[in-house]
Amino acid sequence: TTTHRIALIPGDGIGNEVIPAARRVLDTVAARHGLGFTYETYDWSCERYADLGAMMPDDGLDQLRGHDAILLGAVGHPGVPDHVSLWGLLIPIRRGFQQYVNLRPIRVFEGVPSPLRDADPGDVDLVVVRENVEGEYGEIGGRLGRGLPEEMAVQEAVFTRKGVTRVLDYAFALAERRGGRLTSATKSNGIIHTMPFWDELVAERATAHPEVVWDQEHIDALAAKFVLDPRRFDVVVASNLFGDILSDLAAAVAGSIGIAPAANLNPERDFPSMFEPVHGSAPDIAGRGIANPLGAIWSAAMMLDHLGHPEAATRVTDAMATVLAKTPVRTPDLGGTATTEEFTDALLEPLR
Ligand code: NAD
Ligand code: IPM
Ligand code: MN
Repeated sequence: TTTHRIALIPGDGIGNEVIPAARRVLDTVAARHGLGFTYETYDWSCERYADLGAMMPDDGLDQLRGHDAILLGAVGHPGVPDHVSLWGLLIPIRRGFQQYVNLRPIRVFEGVPSPLRDADPGDVDLVVVRENVEGEYGEIGGRLGRGLPEEMAVQEAVFTRKGVTRVLDYAFALAERRGGRLTSATKSNGIIHTMPFWDELVAERATAHPEVVWDQEHIDALAAKFVLDPRRFDVVVASNLFGDILSDLAAAVAGSIGIAPAANLNPERDFPSMFEPVHGSAPDIAGRGIANPLGAIWSAAMMLDHLGHPEAATRVTDAMATVLAKTPVRTPDLGGTATTEEFTDALLEPLR
């Protein structure tokens, strides 16, 4: 058996409910596919921050470094400012491990009603490739003059040739392996200075991938098209903030943000990659045991794929499709009454 060392960071809120569900799925698949997982669970969270004054220890990244992958739930808790929880855990991992691709697929599953007019299962099958370490989430800036009439906040968007080029190359290569189409999300109509640079780099990288048919759309119009006609998209490449917004939007159009997965990839494999649902800690439903575990479970499937087990990954996504299509068992966000655990039980059936 191949054994993989996995770091589990459940985090806060429903992260503590969906990560155990994903772990059950991994263990069930492992038994069938001759895989082994050893887990190390880290209690890094807002609770830790309240107790010890830090989301993770100073040598947190060193502790993670030796793992083959990281599976994370979500961080964020009312009472701890989000900039503390995010800059103290999530963002340092993404940046420290050069996870510059954030891959966010979305599909319309049979049995999940989409708010999209006339959506048929399989109609929507797209992937957002989000730049994950720079862009609008730049680290230069801050707040000045707190409380004064002159108070202001500034933040520099940082787009580097290296940073943009590498995520574009990933997206074009992915488009080559998928449907051969790529759309770039932009806002180059004169106002945002960084975006004409992004567009130039897209055109430049396109020459290295002549088989890919590509276009670009302004982010505002693109948001509308995601709602009106998401069928037309295959791979969508976007900057950090645009990709963040588009991925929640696509997930909602497909039926629930509780399903959407994310892979924070370091394609060179110099460092571990991190897998996490797109959603957050959902304080409004946390502790009730009703969170949809599919986002975390699909993320775990992406992890299996990344670790070199595509058949095992497909078995998990097939089981998801089967349960959604063939059973009424589902969590309240999908119109059901099942708990996280009951939904996970139902999903494990076809995996055994
Ligand atoms: P959220 O994704 O936590 O919740 C948005 C809405 O979707 C809520 O109504 C919630 O109940 C629902 N929802 C989310 N996931 C669900 C699931 N699996 N099943 C059923 N319903 C689900 O977003 P938010 O409210 O903007 O953020 C809450 C906290 O989470 C904040 O502290 C935020 O910073 C944090 N956050 C963390 C991450 C992360 O760690 N990657 C991502 C997003 C938000
Ligand atoms: C996500 C989240 C994070 C992001 C937040 C919580 C910083 O929304 O993973 O999509 O914007 O990257
Ligand atoms: Mn987001």
